[in-house]
Amino acid sequence: MKIAILGCSQLVTLAGPARPRTGAELRDLAIIADGAMLIEGDRILRAGSPSEIEPLLDADSTVIDAGGRVVLPGFVDAHTHPVFAGNRAGEFEQRVAGTSYAEIAAAGGGIRSTVRQTRAASEDDLLAAVQRYVRWFLASGTTTIEAKSGYGLSVEDECKLLRAIARIQPLRCVATFLGAHEVPDEYRGRKHDYMRVVTEQMLPRVAAEKLAEYCDVFCEPGVFSVEESRAILTVARSLGFGLRMHADQLSNSGAAALAAELGAATADHLEHTDARGIAALRAAGVQPVLLPGSVYALGSTRYPAARAMIEAGLAVVLATDFNPGSSPTPSMPMILSLACTQMKMTPAEALAAATFNAACSLGRQREIGSLETGKLADFVIHDCEDYREIPYFFGIQAAREVYISGQPVLGRW
Ligand code: NIG
Ligand code: FE
Repeated sequence: MKIAILGCSQLVTLAGPARPRTGAELRDLAIIADGAMLIEGDRILRAGSPSEIEPLLDADSTVIDAGGRVVLPGFVDAHTHPVFAGNRAGEFEQRVAGTSYAEIAAAGGGIRSTVRQTRAASEDDLLAAVQRYVRWFLASGTTTIEAKSGYGLSVEDECKLLRAIARIQPLRCVATFLGAHEVPDEYRGRKHDYMRVVTEQMLPRVAAEKLAEYCDVFCEPGVFSVEESRAILTVARSLGFGLRMHADQLSNSGAAALAAELGAATADHLEHTDARGIAALRAAGVQPVLLPGSVYALGSTRYPAARAMIEAGLAVVLATDFNPGSSPTPSMPMILSLACTQMKMTPAEALAAATFNAACSLGRQREIGSLETGKLADFVIHDCEDYREIPYFFGIQAAREVYISGQPVLGRW
């Protein structure tokens, strides 16, 4: 059965070459004014004008009237940590009072406190917790997330998180193994022993059970150094994982250069990356994943140098970094707002970074991230007439109807 979407004030297709967009390409959203789209099964048959689409309808086709609103590809949130137990609202209060994220972590809080709570939870408990966040993602207009483990930090607990990720519905998920997120309590002072658990036990098991496509490391002095991250990621690469990195978040440690050296898919955060780091990413074709939500929520003003990255020709991605510590938001519209107001990205650049370029960073550019013939019908009707209203209004829920694989998963109100 066919479904037609009619009455789109703007059908923002992002049609174009199936490779990461850079420079001026980021500002070309391939918008069809007064657009329409035809879907059959889970795929897009065609996007065009109403006069092109209407003649293709059959008697039993369903028509969805967008009512003069904007239709976008679902956001692709390429960096999240959604599976955890409890939350850290207490630490948030401490940070507001002046204690830093690093001080809280050094005192045994931070990631390790979430690890203690997450280890005590069953896979079903974690799935129930994450399904609540899944509703939040959908309500924000997100249809795909990259989801990291990293709050288990033992072989069994990391696998438990990854199995919970595999059961998430109906959001599309791409799983990333983040066993090197922190050194757990029982390995304090024995980091190299923990790294051997990661490389000799966790990575082979996660690969054998096909529980994750990517491997990530928190590369930061005091957590995993550049040398330690290189050792872990090299093993991951040899086992067939794609690579992502938490790089240069709290200091300029050379993590971006390591991402370039290893040919990582992405280097994420980059708040402290300098011109040399940017040049290295450019030369190696690594996509920067910028996470302004974590800068905002940590009360910092040091946003990554998005303009310099765009001017250098990097295929910028935006993501939420949804996690219970540094970035407790699932809202891509909020991230777009921060990208525009704090990093001076244009609304068009921000939208391309949050959809098509994000899909590229996950190797999904032929399936999602744009509204083009043959792609999966993951799209959202937003409660506005012009896409620029999405970063402009902030703190609202603009997604009105959300479709994944052509099926309604949220809305029609
Ligand atoms: O991306 N930096 C490391 N990981 C997360 C924070 C995780 C946490 O605080 O629980 C981040 O900011
Ligand atoms: Fe993160």
